[in-house]
Amino acid sequence: MSVIGKSEIRKDVRLKVTGKAVYIDDLSFPEMLWVKVVRSPLPHGLIKRFNPSSALAVQGIVSVLTYKDIPGTNVVPIVLMDQPLLAEKVVRYIGEPIALIAGEDRQAIEEGAREIDIEFEKLPPILDPLMAMKEDSPKIYGKDNIFSHHRIRRGNIRQGFEECDLVVENRYTTSYQEHAYIETQGVIAVPYEGRMKIYGSLQCPFYVQHAVSSVLGLPYSQIEVIQTTTGGAFGGKEDVPSLVASQAALVAFHTKRPAKLIYTREEDVESMSKRHPAVIDYKSGVTKEGYLKAVQVKYVLNAGAYSTLSPIVLWRGTVHAVGPYKCPNVKVDSYAVATNTVPCGAFRGFGMPQITFAIESQMDELANRLHIDPIEFRLRNILRKGDRTVTGHLIKESMELEKTLKKASQIGWKREREISNGYKKRGMGIACNYYGVGLGAGGRHLAKAGAWVSVLSDGSVNFAVGTTEMGQGMETVLSQILANELGVKYERVSMVPTATTQVPDSGPTVASRATVMSGNALIKAARPIKKSIMEVASKMLKSPISKVKLADGYATSGTKRIGLDEVIDKCFQQRKIMSSQGWYKAPYTSWNKATGQGKPYFVYSTGTNLAEVEVNTLTGEVTVKRIIAVHDVGKVINPQTAAGQVEGGVLQGIGYALFEDMAPAGGKILNTNFSTYILPTAKDAPEIVSNFIEDPYPQGPFGAKGLGEQPIIGVAPAVINAIFDATGVRIRDLPATPEKIIAELNSHHPTFIPLGRR
Ligand code: MOS
Repeated sequence: MSVIGKSEIRKDVRLKVTGKAVYIDDLSFPEMLWVKVVRSPLPHGLIKRFNPSSALAVQGIVSVLTYKDIPGTNVVPIVLMDQPLLAEKVVRYIGEPIALIAGEDRQAIEEGAREIDIEFEKLPPILDPLMAMKEDSPKIYGKDNIFSHHRIRRGNIRQGFEECDLVVENRYTTSYQEHAYIETQGVIAVPYEGRMKIYGSLQCPFYVQHAVSSVLGLPYSQIEVIQTTTGGAFGGKEDVPSLVASQAALVAFHTKRPAKLIYTREEDVESMSKRHPAVIDYKSGVTKEGYLKAVQVKYVLNAGAYSTLSPIVLWRGTVHAVGPYKCPNVKVDSYAVATNTVPCGAFRGFGMPQITFAIESQMDELANRLHIDPIEFRLRNILRKGDRTVTGHLIKESMELEKTLKKASQIGWKREREISNGYKKRGMGIACNYYGVGLGAGGRHLAKAGAWVSVLSDGSVNFAVGTTEMGQGMETVLSQILANELGVKYERVSMVPTATTQVPDSGPTVASRATVMSGNALIKAARPIKKSIMEVASKMLKSPISKVKLADGYATSGTKRIGLDEVIDKCFQQRKIMSSQGWYKAPYTSWNKATGQGKPYFVYSTGTNLAEVEVNTLTGEVTVKRIIAVHDVGKVINPQTAAGQVEGGVLQGIGYALFEDMAPAGGKILNTNFSTYILPTAKDAPEIVSNFIEDPYPQGPFGAKGLGEQPIIGVAPAVINAIFDATGVRIRDLPATPEKIIAELNSHHPTFIPLGRR
């Protein structure tokens, strides 16, 4: 495995660091128009009058479009089909799109937008999900404002709690989190000989294809989606580009000119999906020996005005609601609730950072109250091979959580803790988590992937997949997988931009699925080509096929060796098949909606985070000193890229734990720029020790599982548990701002003696 496990240089790095990568806003087309979206200033209201005439009178304005101009269906198709592309009579959140203004330049559309004459009648907004769930609440969705409800039923919950020696019950709440990708949403729609070409910054080209098709009323075959270099996504470009692209495409459709739509940061933050705020009521019970006996959870997500991806975000959170632990009696009820706020959606972790914050805070509290070391307490409860999850899934392979826990504690837990210095208190915290790789039973119909491989006569290689590079390193990792499979040098392999015309619908680029899904599809695509090369090499080497090996740009047999370029050239002379398609279907998954039992995912990645913090007890400020992150993700294809994923996830997790907060007032987000939305910077980066447990997953490409989302999930609870260890104060409402910590410090005298100082 000569290319696997090597830190090959990233394929996208040179263009990106030299500024030569072409992002969507760098592109332009002849005759191109600019588009601006007219949005609702109200969280809830009726559109009483809409008059575009003075906007149309502005010089340079070409067109103003509303829902009446939609030739297909006014729905952005995702899960529940409840979201219009453009509001018709009712607006349901601040920032909801109402109309599109197209003009010759940026200035014209700004001026046109100011001239739009629009009158609303205010309706009372529902801003709080718990209020929205009340029977007497006004309804904005269905009979009960609930988009989605999932459950788990296992054992006997009442009896389970009766058998416990200690029961801990708490409410946890979390805030919004903004993706903060550097590149805002952007798309150019180009009408081309009756077809519609979409270029854009996006994660899921096939979602965009379906949405544009539905809005324009054209067959999928007439919509071509080409991903441009994407400057970050983190889930924020999973479903959202379906809207952005449909908006641009509607303009292009009517004007027959290319249409460019680039969101400003302010409108991006105001109107685009983010991590759901959650309210989690969590009750857990243990025996005095420290074994989990019963867990009851009510998990509520504030979904916002439309359901978007909330039903699936909620499902993932539900499946993992007890954490990577054994528990015989479980009752979980989860709800995605409609409110007059911005629709929330996918964000790295996808419903898991919220619930994991609650799970791991509970675990920490249970351990402390039982006077059991938190690592020892987890070791008594964690899932190992041969155990069943709370959904009844018997784990047969690749579950190495115990190793991550032991490795993390070996690196950090026993280290001499720094002595607290007066008012500056030091502490350590731990959190474990697991993550079902891929879409699982909730998205089974999409759990597939295609790939195309073409070896060219000069020995260089092109490939295409249906998943996308968005900065995470997929292009690099897949190039390594393909290079290794064909035995060619890594430098000879390159990926063509992901487009809907290259491979069949391969599902979305989400759920940490690209390595396993596209990696396996690529290996299958390479098979017939590899066979051609082997046959020819065997003749050239005068050696039986079984003795021929392909690696590092050579075909070898014993001591004989020949350059692959030469073999490939011969393959072409002999007209061998040198280009091929591959198709991979995910392993079996299942889910019983009534009981929440089944095999929801085919495999889980797992991990342990240890956090060391210093809390200034005069100001409430928290400094994260060190994070030790040990992840079990199967074989690591590229160690440096993997470490990069962990470092990014750790920083996002610290932001989630300590800084990132939205301040909506009356449904309006007030901090819509990075001057007021506080993100961690390099200055807030602690020492990050990343480490991997590399037990190969037999069904992954060269043993790999998924990594993308795993790094963020356990960071916030590790930090929060460390704050408790340092101060005796437990924050149950994220983020743990200095104000909250000071208020807690002042409100009670800590009675708890942190572990390190016993
Ligand atoms: Mo991801 S949060 O599954 O786009």
